[in-house]
Amino acid sequence: MVGQWAAYQNEIYLQGLAGTKPPFTTDPTALEDAAAEVLTPEALGYVAGGAGSGGSMRANRAAFDRWQLVPRMLTDATERDLSVTLFGEQLAAPVLLAPVGVQSIVHPDGELATARAAAGLNLPMILSTASSHTIEEVAAASGAGPRWFQLYWPNDPDVCASILARARKEGYTALVVTLDTWSLAWRPRDLDQAYLPFIRNMGTAIAMSDPVFRAQLEKMPEEDLPTALLRWVSLFTGVDKSWSQLAVLRELWDGPVLLKGIQHVDDARRAVDAGMDGIVVSNHGGRQVDGAIGSLEALPAIAQAVGGRAEVLFDSGVRNGSDVLKALALGAKAVLLGRPYVYGLGLGGEDGVRHVLRSLLADTDITLGLAGFRTPAELSPAALHRAEG
Ligand code: FNR
Repeated sequence: MVGQWAAYQNEIYLQGLAGTKPPFTTDPTALEDAAAEVLTPEALGYVAGGAGSGGSMRANRAAFDRWQLVPRMLTDATERDLSVTLFGEQLAAPVLLAPVGVQSIVHPDGELATARAAAGLNLPMILSTASSHTIEEVAAASGAGPRWFQLYWPNDPDVCASILARARKEGYTALVVTLDTWSLAWRPRDLDQAYLPFIRNMGTAIAMSDPVFRAQLEKMPEEDLPTALLRWVSLFTGVDKSWSQLAVLRELWDGPVLLKGIQHVDDARRAVDAGMDGIVVSNHGGRQVDGAIGSLEALPAIAQAVGGRAEVLFDSGVRNGSDVLKALALGAKAVLLGRPYVYGLGLGGEDGVRHVLRSLLADTDITLGLAGFRTPAELSPAALHRAEG
């Protein structure tokens, strides 16, 4: 099989001839158990946990199981090209690294390791506002790699403007505004361990290094950390915004703006009407609203309603290559990978992230070909069967 990414399969088998096995599992569904061996109970609970009953996480996976690929034969699918163009940038594959905060709780290199792995594969990393390293440090680690910035919308307009200006200056091209986490959900795994990384000064590097945030404090965080942390919490949580306020962000960002957390068709339409360049159909990996619709269930109607007027991206529950293909077939232009790469980071830093990404892309590439397709653009709902029940 000829495909840029499929080559990882041969590489693994050939290394086996020399007695070497892959350092980490190639089964994305086994990553959480592997990571459980190396992560602290607090970090594991924070990454693996969800809102309330965990029902939304289960719904995310169940939604993928309900759709099934219908393989086609003799389609000359030997040579394949997974690249896609998003906002004028050519990506090596329709996969981005989802914004995930506080990565230093799983590995000391945190976002820096993730940035290096993503850049090496020419996949965009979406840097979280809740990063454990600064915008500038992660940009330096990313080098010439593609990078986007995710905004947790601060309740102070001056801090907001300052953070966005820093991100723009450091070469982050697209802005992903996360709407579903203006307040933290009820998360039993974290609550039972009384664990919230932010109030322990983890995942706060971007604000703590921000000149406007610092200027608003009476004492610098280095002198009075608890007060600075309280200010951080009040800046990023507790206040919902409204559609009319989006215009402000548009003025502060001269690149593409996407809204993340969209699950309702009407919200998708509103995003388009508000002039947004894209949306991310996501339920935050089941971490925010318990008992919610599986994210993939929401995708087809949203993609139809958007009708090509904005880019539609997808996340929540993507684990295997077939999941990537199903989301693309149902109307997503690209998907965001979340927890699996975070487990890779915990298991092996930059190498672990690279392994997880290469495994997912090899699986995607091989499965695309075996299903009878050569490019993401060839996928449509006609490639799928909806299982009964
Ligand atoms: C997240 N996610 C997230 N999203 C965001 O916009 N900003 C953030 O800082 C974070 N932080 C974060 C931390 C952790 C530990 C997880 C697991 C997730 C949500 C993330 O971007 C994405 O929507 C989900 O990870 C998708 O679900 P799965 O596929 O990982 O289950």
